Amino acid sequence: MELRETIGRRRSIRFVRPYKPVEPEKIQMMFEAARIASHWGNVQSLRAVAVFKNTATQEQIDALEAPVAGWQIRKAPAVIVWYCDPSAVDEQSDRLHELLDAGALGFGSKEEKRKAMDEVLIPIFDSIRDKLKEPGLNEIDCGQGIAQATLMAYELGLGTCCLGSPAGDQILAGLGIPDHCRLLLLQTVGYPAEHWEAGGQRPRQPFETLFSMNHYDQPFPRSEAVVEELTRDKLFTTPAPLPEREDELDYLQRALEVDPPGLL
Ligand SMILES: Cc1cc2nc3c(=O)[nH]c(=O)nc-3n(C[C@H](O)[C@H](O)[C@H](O)COP(=O)(O)O)c2cc1C
Repeated sequence: MELRETIGRRRSIRFVRPYKPVEPEKIQMMFEAARIASHWGNVQSLRAVAVFKNTATQEQIDALEAPVAGWQIRKAPAVIVWYCDPSAVDEQSDRLHELLDAGALGFGSKEEKRKAMDEVLIPIFDSIRDKLKEPGLNEIDCGQGIAQATLMAYELGLGTCCLGSPAGDQILAGLGIPDHCRLLLLQTVGYPAEHWEAGGQRPRQPFETLFSMNHYDQPFPRSEAVVEELTRDKLFTTPAPLPEREDELDYLQRALEVDPPGLL
């Protein structure tokens, strides 16, 4: 499937088949996609623990207990706990040297570049190391990895849903993750129980209110020809709500034995 169609068909899938385990190889494919995502300075602070309900201990499964969207966590056959390890920033100079050796940085002779890196660039990063470990840039880059994993999951026929949790420290501790790490989110993974459209394409804010050209006050002009091309390529699909969605939700709720209102 073309990338445009994959992006267009991806949905947060909340209803998955609890009885069908997810193959570790498929989660591996998600992780492989996440691993090659871009990260500032090639620092690679994104980490994850995948918990498989069919092989994890009860204690490991219990560690996932979330106060919000808990029913999704309970029903999903696999849950990925994505977290950020800011200590990856400590190895920044190694990562930069690797980039240099790989020919990914700048121009000039290798010796010139190494000198500039060791004498200028790395001292600058060293002087703001603690700042670079704070929430912000690392989380953005982790998000890029999670987005690539999410698209890979879709391509593999899996449904996923990202879920935040206020119980980050508790979840990390329950899985033995070092306490200097930060929970990013839980991502439920399973074979979809709902139709891929999941009620239709979800509402988004108008394009022009989100993006500008040259200046904040100048909305980015949205070309109709581009919209038509992307519609043809299936980046855009039928907007939600599809007429049968409420019936589908009712059916799914009964099939999965979830108590209403199904938000918690
Ligand atoms: C980083 C992130 C965190 C999210 N956290 C939650 C959450 O805590 N609870 C929840 O019900 N949905 C959560 N979602 C799912 C969003 O609500 C979902 O993306 C939104 O409903 C739009 O649906 P779509 O992803 O199918 O476009 C999260 C999504 C992302 C990307």
